[in-house]
Amino acid sequence: MMLLLAPGIRYFPEHFGPAEQAALVEDIRAVVTKAPLYVPAMPKTGKEMSVRMTNCGVLGWVTDKEGGYRYQAVHPVTRRPWPSIPQRLLELWQEVGDFPLLPEACLVNFYSDTAKMGLHQDRDEQNLNAPVVSVSLGDACLFRSGGTNRNDKTQSIRLSSGDVIVLGGEGRMAFHGVDRIYPGTSTLLKSTGRINLTLRRVTAS
Ligand code: SIN
Ligand code: FE2
Repeated sequence: MMLLLAPGIRYFPEHFGPAEQAALVEDIRAVVTKAPLYVPAMPKTGKEMSVRMTNCGVLGWVTDKEGGYRYQAVHPVTRRPWPSIPQRLLELWQEVGDFPLLPEACLVNFYSDTAKMGLHQDRDEQNLNAPVVSVSLGDACLFRSGGTNRNDKTQSIRLSSGDVIVLGGEGRMAFHGVDRIYPGTSTLLKSTGRINLTLRRVTAS
């Protein structure tokens, strides 16, 4: 099932069933073993974000005080290349991404019970024709999306484990964020918290 939340914002509730969600968690555990979660910091201020991050893919999205928002080929702490994107996620992209080239980056965000993410646009990619494909795992969250101006009206939906959102076309530059986590609403993970995966195409070709 697919619901259109707004032009270009497609919502696939429970796209992944319980067995597939568990397999995805195993895929991500393997990624995190090679590329540990780290604490990202905001450009200029160096203020720490509340989520913990890592990536898989030939490129990963990183942010720190000195370098700001960017994509790079290596983990900022280990300096090693990111692990590759799990096959299951490449298949998801091919299924729902509606784009001829494969994703280059998969940002992994881990939300503890109190973590959130402020309203923002994903605009560090050169290729804005490609969608951003997002997967939710673990505890539910309150997800907010709006238009392409920060002050546009927003709508909030509760995203649950297995849900997929695609920001593409007119929705690609939509502001979005996570206002809160609902701890203990899923038993998928070993403890509370939420994992979000976002697949992105970074370069133009
Ligand atoms: C993001 O915008 O990078 C994360 C969105 C989410 O956690 O659902
Ligand atoms: Fe985002």
